[in-house]
Amino acid sequence: MRFDVWSKNPEQGVDCIAAGVYDDGSLGAETAGLDKLTGGRITAVVSRGDFSGRSGETLLLSEPGLKQTRVLLVGLGAARGYGRKAWRRACATALTAAGRTRVKSLALALERPAAKELDDYYFGRCVAEIAGTTAYRINDLKTGRKPPAPAINRIVAGPVRVTGITQAKLGLAHGEALAKAMGLQKDLGNLPPNICNPTYLADQSKALARRYSTVKVKVLDEAAIRREKMGCFLSVTQGSAQPPRFIVLDYTGPRAPAKAPVVLVGKGITFDSGGISIKPGANMDEMKWDMMGAASVIAAIAFAAEARLPLRVVGLVATCENMPSGTATRPGDIYTSASGQTVEILNTDAEGRLILCDALHYARRFNPSAVVDIATLTGACVIALGAHHTGVMGNDEELIHELVSAGLHSDDRAWQLPLTEEYVEQLKSNFADLANIGGREGGAITAAGFLSKFTAGMPWAHMDIAGTAWLGGAQKGSSGRPMPLLSDFLVQRSQQRG
Ligand code: BES
Ligand code: MN
Ligand code: ZN
Repeated sequence: MRFDVWSKNPEQGVDCIAAGVYDDGSLGAETAGLDKLTGGRITAVVSRGDFSGRSGETLLLSEPGLKQTRVLLVGLGAARGYGRKAWRRACATALTAAGRTRVKSLALALERPAAKELDDYYFGRCVAEIAGTTAYRINDLKTGRKPPAPAINRIVAGPVRVTGITQAKLGLAHGEALAKAMGLQKDLGNLPPNICNPTYLADQSKALARRYSTVKVKVLDEAAIRREKMGCFLSVTQGSAQPPRFIVLDYTGPRAPAKAPVVLVGKGITFDSGGISIKPGANMDEMKWDMMGAASVIAAIAFAAEARLPLRVVGLVATCENMPSGTATRPGDIYTSASGQTVEILNTDAEGRLILCDALHYARRFNPSAVVDIATLTGACVIALGAHHTGVMGNDEELIHELVSAGLHSDDRAWQLPLTEEYVEQLKSNFADLANIGGREGGAITAAGFLSKFTAGMPWAHMDIAGTAWLGGAQKGSSGRPMPLLSDFLVQRSQQRG
């Protein structure tokens, strides 16, 4: 895809110009200019009542009298309160509708929200992100004929004032890298768990390192994991016929300080049956998405490499299956973590924290400036925040604030839950240093409290994406979250320290 910006008038040499109309029939500023060029055809269509301007509505004027160029009318919704959200929706509507035609080049001339809501950088970033997400097709294994991919290969977005062109172009480049990374993250999640297993995740990580010379990869097999004394991680995998993997991705960008990297840690349970504490049958298939933390870490490294961020980012992925069998962990078993702390397993379905505690301990050797783990960790987080916010907790208020603001800027919101010491006390055991569950109450926070026992002394935050990483119902599939948030976080970090 080629991206560009226009400054004065929407580019004319394109196959189609997308222009906005409000639901009171008034035309956006760009649309009014265009209307004149068409000899009032847009006004005519609206005043005849053929286009209402409701959000989500489109109308293609195939021959509006602009030589070869079509006009795609796009509903902007209410003029009052028109802002970033409505603009995003209008962009997605325009790109989806244009993608169903043979249009190859598209000028976006939709009313831009106020600069304080959407500056030039985020304008470019959103355009490219939305272009990528609307073009995404689920990587299904259906054997019938696939619907054709959209023909669009060039997008010219505007208006961008001359002073903002550099920022808008940087945004476009970052948005394109984000969309590409999101496609990878979504594909990994959508694949069935008999294909996307720990070995597959390791192979995809190796492929990433082959693609980018800035990315190095190391994969630890079961014997190497044992040498690292990751007893809690091994306790989760021991019931499965699939071998576990521990993946270390290391990205160093141009002019990046090699010391004190950002370390991202991902939960990669490629299928979570619950183990001996087996889950009920309903929706159990959705536990193929229990590796979305891992997919997010792999995709975040891909984003950093594609965007060439001047930063060092290390990605750690602990990946295995959680299965019941004669060799599986029993409730009551006690295992020793890599940190030396012993853990009594009271519920084998609380497995995410067990693989993460050993991965978080591994992070120490990098002397990280920040450690962020990403995990589909608890059903309790879904109960607390629904599908709207990712839960954020940790031991470093500044880091938590960075993540929450990155979510706000990228429309991929996160909300802090209070990780105070009372929650950690719920994890007391009479037989080991701590138990792996702390009761039903505050379950998202006690899970984070468990992790906090392994991150003391490092600036650490935990993101629970159990509610946000995939969608159910008719939309069933990976959502791409929290990639917008993570990419924004990394961009901000690279600008602070780059
Ligand atoms: N992977 C699940 C969490 C989950 C559940 C994510 C539903 C998304 C949707 C995790 O491993 C798990 O099973 N957690 C248990 C913890 C409990 C046993 C303390 C849970 O949330 O029920
Ligand atoms: Mn589980
Ligand atoms: Zn799980």
